[in-house]
Amino acid sequence: MRRLFVAGNWKMNTVLRSATGLAAALAAEIPAELPGVEVAVCPPFPYLLPVAEKLAGSGIALGAQNAYFEKPGAFTGEVAVEMLVDAGCRYCILGHSERRHILGEDDALINRKLRACLEQGLSAILCVGETLNERKEERTEAVLDSQLSGSLAGIDGALFDRLVIAYEPVWAIGTGLTATPDQAQSAHQYLRNWIHSRYDAQIAKDLRILYGGSVKAENGLALLQQPDVDGALVGGASLKVEQFLPIVRIAESLKKT
Ligand code: PGA
Repeated sequence: MRRLFVAGNWKMNTVLRSATGLAAALAAEIPAELPGVEVAVCPPFPYLLPVAEKLAGSGIALGAQNAYFEKPGAFTGEVAVEMLVDAGCRYCILGHSERRHILGEDDALINRKLRACLEQGLSAILCVGETLNERKEERTEAVLDSQLSGSLAGIDGALFDRLVIAYEPVWAIGTGLTATPDQAQSAHQYLRNWIHSRYDAQIAKDLRILYGGSVKAENGLALLQQPDVDGALVGGASLKVEQFLPIVRIAESLKKT
């Protein structure tokens, strides 16, 4: 059965003091693993270790926002998967739309990063999603199809226990616009069917698919109630305890498992 998952993507926000403060406040509220719900936060690289210290012994896992696919070596400015594992990360966000659209990452690069993470023991939150124009032109499924085909190319189904997919419509990220529960469910169902058709029924059934894009306490319940929505990847609302915690509590109240 799928365990609900709420992950906070802090993006390029916080300084040392606010990062550790936020982590400590969340750890105090989530001192042990919640039944049926997994929680993670993904701070910027410089704060992974101090945040890990604050999260120690809590029910909150640590995640990174990016990784490079090469083993440690001469790759100035990059961070290797084994460094993230060493720093205590369980998760790494990959293929986020900001990396695709601002930093120019394509599916071939995301695929190499994804393989490196999954093969070296890091779980990945792979983000996919269409832009507003693509939705208007009714190309949402075609875009999801090509993003999945490219980023999952050659990846063995045996590694899928470390894979989480996040459906993040680009037009809903940081804009205050949210996909309706029906729009989210329909995209999630498409993604799950896609995995079923390329892999198998069990892998598709076990795969967690998160929704991301302006998730807040106010819209969280309706989204998380959808049968194929297994949690949320939260940006803006993950930076404030009083906004993030209610989303975790909603997931806890639903405990789909
Ligand atoms: P948002 O970001 O919740 O601020 O829209 C979500 C994300 O980009 O993961």
